[in-house]
Amino acid sequence: MISRELRQIVNGDQVSDGAGVQLKRIIGSPQLNMLDPFLMLDAFGSDQPQEYLAGFPPHPHRGFETVTYMLAGKMRHEDSAGNQGVIETGGIQWMTAGKGIIHSEMPEQEQGLLAGFQLWVNLPASEKMQEPRYQERTAEEIPVEVHDNGTRIKVIAGQTRQGTQGVIDNPYVNPLYLHVALPADTNFEQTVPESDNSFIYVIEGQLTLGDKQRLLKAGQLGVLEHGDLVTLKADENSEFLLVSGQPLNEPVARGGPFVMNTREQVEQAFADYRAGRLA
Ligand code: CO
Repeated sequence: MISRELRQIVNGDQVSDGAGVQLKRIIGSPQLNMLDPFLMLDAFGSDQPQEYLAGFPPHPHRGFETVTYMLAGKMRHEDSAGNQGVIETGGIQWMTAGKGIIHSEMPEQEQGLLAGFQLWVNLPASEKMQEPRYQERTAEEIPVEVHDNGTRIKVIAGQTRQGTQGVIDNPYVNPLYLHVALPADTNFEQTVPESDNSFIYVIEGQLTLGDKQRLLKAGQLGVLEHGDLVTLKADENSEFLLVSGQPLNEPVARGGPFVMNTREQVEQAFADYRAGRLA
């Protein structure tokens, strides 16, 4: 098997988005514009209410999926079709925006820690105009694989080496989305399809990656070279996300909340939004 080495370390940029939410943009930043099929990765985490209270008031999406994973706190979600719910600590919402949705994402708390991630996953051209769809799972509904050495693998999407299956269905890029906790000095291995694009984001601790023993620290995202095996060791008690997916290899035309294949399709999305056809 070919071990995946570390290709690039991305630290991300502090930005303000929505109505003034402070977050760190890691994918979708000048350092890493995209990692096909992943268009954006934001990490948010603050116990200062003024950094998150404003939330994300109603805004549209078309042509891709938004994936919200809460590490701490609660986020209320409402959309133009009347869907609503609260994503709580440890829960995931995998929203296929498809042909279009207008939604809001607002903190369901006025104090305390709010932390998590939003990942944007592209859809293939043939699926961009499908009906919107939600896959929402609470922490209790997501399987956790526990090993004798203390390793804990929360399997959101994809499958572990031991066969634990995630809860998210996505036949377009067959994603792997794992949240792994490793005790100090523990090794970890996960097979991935050779041609997938894969990254690791270190939530806490420090990892040593691949045969070349490259370091990846808390708060950093590591883009991995191609290969079929992710191998790493935790230098201290560590937590990280391992995310992988098949590249779509299609043209990408972005316009704010719309991600299509051509400029004309993005302009059509703006026109549809202005005309009230996304609601
Ligand atoms: Co949104």
